[in-house]
Amino acid sequence: MTQKDINISYLEYSRIEEMNAEDRELAAEAIEAMGGAYAPYSHFHVGAAVRMSNGQIVRGANQENAAFPSGLCAERTAMFSASAKYPDKDMRSIAIAGGVHGRLGREPATPCGACRQVMAQYQTKAGKPMSVIMIGADKIWKFEKVDDILPLIFDSI
Ligand code: THU
Repeated sequence: MTQKDINISYLEYSRIEEMNAEDRELAAEAIEAMGGAYAPYSHFHVGAAVRMSNGQIVRGANQENAAFPSGLCAERTAMFSASAKYPDKDMRSIAIAGGVHGRLGREPATPCGACRQVMAQYQTKAGKPMSVIMIGADKIWKFEKVDDILPLIFDSI
């Protein structure tokens, strides 16, 4: 028997201004995208912004429904929209922002497991790392690839 370890390293910024220009822009888009949330049940507004390999940015926001499972997270709204709009382009990066009643939370907004799985597949499709930026009012985290937030990715079929 051998014990194995998985190490994850990521960057923590204390302000958006510390990031490079591309990430700053994507973070600002994710924060603005929170305005598109439809969250009459949770009142938790989430915005996401995806940067494509052609430089275009596609936004998404969470959409809730009275039949709860019919709603969709901001990240998947953004990624599915981006893939539908630019099917031949790769996703390079995704930024996520969220907070109660549309006010950015202090801690970074972290994506749910289902959204991580969808990120993983678009990263595999691209064959290149897709970075993930999680934005909070007090700190921002940047992960260089989806594997860092979803180790042992399932993509075997
Ligand atoms: N939500 C997202 O949009 N992204 C996530 O990764 C986690 C949760 C949304 C779904 C629901 O509308 C609300 O936040 C509360 O769960």
